[in-house]
Amino acid sequence: MRICVLGAGYVGLATGVMFGELCHEVICADIDRTRVRAVNSGRLPFYEPPLERELRKLVRSGSLKATEDVEWAVGESDIIFICVQTPSMPSGRIDIRPVKSASRNVGRALKKSQGYKLVVVKSTVVPGTTDSVVKPLLEAGSNKKAGKDFGLCMNPEFLQEGSALKDSIEPSRIVVGSGDERSAKILLDLYKPVKSPKIRTDLRTAEMIKYASNAFLATKISYSNEIANICVRLGIDSQKVLEAVGMDPRIGPRFLKPGLGFGGSCLPKDVKALKDRAKQLGYNPRLLSTLLAINSIQPSEGVRLLEMELGGLSGKKIAVLGLAFKGGVDDVRETRALPLVMELLGKGAVVTAFDPMAMANFIRLMPTIRYASSAAECLNGADACIVQADWPEFKKLGRKEFSSMKHPIVVDGRRFLDPESVRRAGAKYLGIGFGSAE
Ligand SMILES: NC(=O)c1ccc[n+]([C@@H]2O[C@H](COP(=O)([O-])OP(=O)(O)OC[C@H]3O[C@@H](n4cnc5c(N)ncnc54)[C@H](O)[C@@H]3O)[C@@H](O)[C@H]2O)c1
Repeated sequence: MRICVLGAGYVGLATGVMFGELCHEVICADIDRTRVRAVNSGRLPFYEPPLERELRKLVRSGSLKATEDVEWAVGESDIIFICVQTPSMPSGRIDIRPVKSASRNVGRALKKSQGYKLVVVKSTVVPGTTDSVVKPLLEAGSNKKAGKDFGLCMNPEFLQEGSALKDSIEPSRIVVGSGDERSAKILLDLYKPVKSPKIRTDLRTAEMIKYASNAFLATKISYSNEIANICVRLGIDSQKVLEAVGMDPRIGPRFLKPGLGFGGSCLPKDVKALKDRAKQLGYNPRLLSTLLAINSIQPSEGVRLLEMELGGLSGKKIAVLGLAFKGGVDDVRETRALPLVMELLGKGAVVTAFDPMAMANFIRLMPTIRYASSAAECLNGADACIVQADWPEFKKLGRKEFSSMKHPIVVDGRRFLDPESVRRAGAKYLGIGFGSAE
């Protein structure tokens, strides 16, 4: 099959590489020239090393290429995946202009092309969008009928940044939403070599599954943080509590960890969009509102631990380690580092920050603070440090680095460091939902 992915971002490139590995010919079409050039030279426009290695192989072998000519790419392909971004607007509603523009382009290309093509929406869109926005635009642009002259499916994506390739090759499930049998059959056939459970639904159900999944993940995180915030005030280690809670097979251990809250390009955006949609429908989604409220106060829990330890932050030098929304990625969309640093600055702290990969992206959000070129340099002379993202290299910090701090105090905002190792290296360990390990 010839596959076109519209949007050379995380989802588009992970999808393209996955189908390339399954021996299909892939064209990635993007309106961003820099991204197209990067892909054609075997480079990703973001940090995801395993995906980049596979991309390079496919580009070299000629089975994956990128272009700015969206209509040409669509014309050349049998199946077109729409993978463009759907960012949050200030109201929480998603901005579907990229989806609309991609749909118009695909519609125009469908008009000029012969034969039956399948269009698949992979972008996360609120229930009803594929049927009431994408389909009419495709039909108007092409002068053809969905379900008759061309196919239409909704196929939500569940990958996590940091494991994009693995999650695409071995997804937990494949949801195929469609309004007609032929479209669903083509997409199910395409996914046949992927041995994951497949769920066939209508378009709106497929769209809702994505939102319901992310709302649950966000609920688990905010639940963990609520429990952690109570535990820390009782002098109980919340991590122990949550570990034991997660052993119940009805609950499960993942996403059950105290921290500074969730960020990234999906969870905050998707929960806000679902909340907004529910309100439009006249329903007040209390759980969604509350989990977002818990998430927004969570960086303050880290600041509170620092204040308790230092007795006020005015003039104090605070090292912030990790600026990406999590370790292992360079994505700073909705990173908790932003509200964290803003609160620290608001309390008069002098902030120095470091991230192994996300610094350039974060500097664009916040150009005015100091940046260090290594974790060791960041710690040098600091009154305390707070770890915001769980980069594995922060686990290697030891006596040498901590002894260069004015006060060797480590606040673990992700609860991923080993408290004992930190203590053995001569620093005081404080974890979110834990307090002091001394
Ligand atoms: N990033 C994730 O972890 C993830 C996971 C699951 C689902 N999603 C969803 O998938 C969608 C894409 O997310 P992403 O993170 O890959 O986005 P992204 O911002 O990384 O990439 C989107 C790409 O689409 C391109 N684009 C925009 N308009 C276009 C058009 N008209 N034609 C062609 N290209 C166009 C942009 O230039 C950009 O390169 C979103 O709806 C997101 O919510 C993302």
